[in-house]
Amino acid sequence: MKILRSGWRGTCFPYCVCLLLSIPYSNKAGLHVFILGCISAVLPKTEAYWPDVIQDLENIKNLIQFIHFDATLYTESNVHLDCKVTAMKCFILESNVILHECKDEIIQRTVENIIILANSSLSSRWNAIENGCKQCEELEEKNITEFVQSFSQIVQQFIFTDSH
Ligand SMILES: *[C@@H]1O[C@H](CO)[C@@H](O)[C@H](O)[C@H]1NC(C)=O
Ligand SMILES: *[C@@H]1O[C@H](CO)[C@@H](O)[C@H](O)[C@H]1NC(C)=O
Repeated sequence: MKILRSGWRGTCFPYCVCLLLSIPYSNKAGLHVFILGCISAVLPKTEAYWPDVIQDLENIKNLIQFIHFDATLYTESNVHLDCKVTAMKCFILESNVILHECKDEIIQRTVENIIILANSSLSSRWNAIENGCKQCEELEEKNITEFVQSFSQIVQQFIFTDSH
C-alpha cells in the first residue's frame, strides 16, 4: 500500500534517516524499497497516484467479501468525461461513509489511504467547475461492491485521459 505522508514532502532527509535506522543494513531489499519511498516523497505534489488507488480498491474488493456492510453509497456508474472531476469528488466524499460505517480496521486504513491518494491526485482540479453534472445526492445509491467497481472505473478514466 502506498502511504502518502504530505507533511514529509520536501524533507527527504529525516524521512530516510528515520527509516534507515529502523532496518538492519543487511536487508538490501528493504533498503531499496525505502530509498524509492524517499525519492517518491520529494517528487512534485502533482504526481498522480491513480494506480495506487486502483490497487487499494482491489484490496477493498477482496476484504469486503468477509464483512457485512449494508450501507448504500451514492454512486456514479456512468461517468461523462465532462463530469469526471465532479464524480471523483463524490467518490472521495462517499468513501467517508465507509469510514463511518465499517469497523474493520484494515478496511478503514485502506479507505483512508484511498481518500488521501485520490484527493492528492486530483489536487488543483478539485476546484474545477463542471456545469450540468449530477451532484452526489442526485446519484443512485448502490451497495459497496458496485461502488468500488465504479470507483475503479473512473480512476481508470483519469489514468487514460491524463496520459493522452
Ligand atoms: C481534498 O483536497 C482539497 C484541496 O485540494 C480540500 O479542500 C478538501 O477538503 C480535500 N478533501 C478531502 C476529503 O480530503
Ligand atoms: C450488490 O448489488 C448487485 C446488483 O444489484 C448484486 O448483484 C450484488 O449481489 C450486491 N452485492 C452485495 C454484497 O450486496
